[in-house]
Amino acid sequence: EVVVLDYGGQYSQLIARRVRECGVFSELLPHHVGAEEVRRRKPKGLILSGGPASVYADGAPRLDPELLELGIPVLGICYGMQLLALKLGGRVEGAEVGEFGRSQLTVHEPGTLLAGLPSEQACWMSHRDTVYEAPPGFTALASSTESPVAAFESTERGIYGIQFHPEVVHTPYGQDVLKTFLGGVCGADLTWSAASIVEEQIARIRAQVGDARVICGLSGGVDSSVAAVLVHQAIGDQLTCIFVDHGLMRKDEGDQVVKAFREQYGIPLVAVDAEDRFLDKLAGVSEPEAKRKIIGAEFIRVFEEEAAKIGDAKFLVQGTLYSDVIESGGGTGAATIKSHHNVGGLPDDLEFELVEPLRALFKDEVRAVGAELGLPERLVWRQPFPGPGLAIRVVGGEATKERLDVLRDADYILQDEIRNAGLYRDLWQSFCVLPDVRTVGVQGDERTYGYVVVIRAVTSDDAMTADWARLPYDLLEQIASRMINELREVNRVVLDITSKPPGTIEWE
Ligand code: XMP
Repeated sequence: EVVVLDYGGQYSQLIARRVRECGVFSELLPHHVGAEEVRRRKPKGLILSGGPASVYADGAPRLDPELLELGIPVLGICYGMQLLALKLGGRVEGAEVGEFGRSQLTVHEPGTLLAGLPSEQACWMSHRDTVYEAPPGFTALASSTESPVAAFESTERGIYGIQFHPEVVHTPYGQDVLKTFLGGVCGADLTWSAASIVEEQIARIRAQVGDARVICGLSGGVDSSVAAVLVHQAIGDQLTCIFVDHGLMRKDEGDQVVKAFREQYGIPLVAVDAEDRFLDKLAGVSEPEAKRKIIGAEFIRVFEEEAAKIGDAKFLVQGTLYSDVIESGGGTGAATIKSHHNVGGLPDDLEFELVEPLRALFKDEVRAVGAELGLPERLVWRQPFPGPGLAIRVVGGEATKERLDVLRDADYILQDEIRNAGLYRDLWQSFCVLPDVRTVGVQGDERTYGYVVVIRAVTSDDAMTADWARLPYDLLEQIASRMINELREVNRVVLDITSKPPGTIEWE
């Protein structure tokens, strides 16, 4: 593996992901973990990320000199390069003008790191401090519009630095530079892939659970589905899945989950139809957080009842992802990431040991593993769906069966049209919201007084920020007319054009 130390850069996670795309497992650790922690992992290489600080600022993260004594190759990117330059006796200064965005890189001496690349190429920059002279004993490899030394190396010491960002797509040869570092310099095998993850995880799961009984809560989403299929491949029918249908799923979704798991994968599955229980509890409740609490608590209650019936289960499978681990502080020192209100999931303090086969993976890697395991594209690429389901999309009022059904039907039409238009995968989420509002319309010379359906479609990378999707007008028209023609209760359709921030993706 390769360790990426995070100095707080905007792109640190992306570096870790790009390294993995090169075929090398990588972990993102906060910069302050110390050399001992890095040594313990026995990495083949170390990458120092960019960061927002100036190396001269008070309190700016420093380079632990011991990291350079571990005997493993080091690549500094942006701030990471400046730290190296400063520590090793190069000249770093705050420039008059910063260099932000697209720039031109001129290679004077390709050395090892830039070997085989064109002498002129585009690259992406984002810095104000600039390296003016490489440290003694280092070779300056390249310059850019505003950076006299945009890359340097000492093959003897195994230390490399680049000012540009190889991890962003605007640096067309960035991935080549990373590959040279990983394969050529670090001597890592570039073989880490979905297939190798599956193989490794199956062995780990077997070793962890032995012949004990294991249960898994299925939500129908990508993460729990991939985790369940992976665990089933490892231990077969020692695994029982529990699917709690709270009646707040999308149309047919519950049936699809049950069918896929029972018939297609032959995985033992207990399906609980708990719609009445949930709707009873939700009666008269319109406040969003109250809905979330009720659904969350009831979900755990039903799950525990079913788990108790299975009896002697010792392990619980959770579809925890690497981004959850990082966000909860297990990975980087990055501070203010929103705590995910993962209502509709299970708490960590149930009486089970956890099996978390996806804990080291990013979402796109989970999808690749899902595809490797032969899960259908529809499941692998499913958009995120909140645990409390449609209850928080019947907004400003109570989630009654009648309103949930209207919403479910409207949502079905939306999904159908978006899939037919080939846009489903381009959108982070697309769904309908049903406000507790009726408006007047006229249909066939008759006055109508019906529901308003809101279309919400957003693009996003991680749900932290989102932009409203520019759906084609013709598609919007087709969606609106289908909803109004096919759904008697609906007489108006509107489009939500709020980004996040200031809006959130969901309305509640
Ligand atoms: P917001 O509305 O905060 O949503 O922009 C960000 C992402 O989180 C999802 N979401 C939830 N997921 N339980 C969940 O499991 C919840 O209570 C919940 N609320 C929002 C939302 O769909 C979006 O992807």
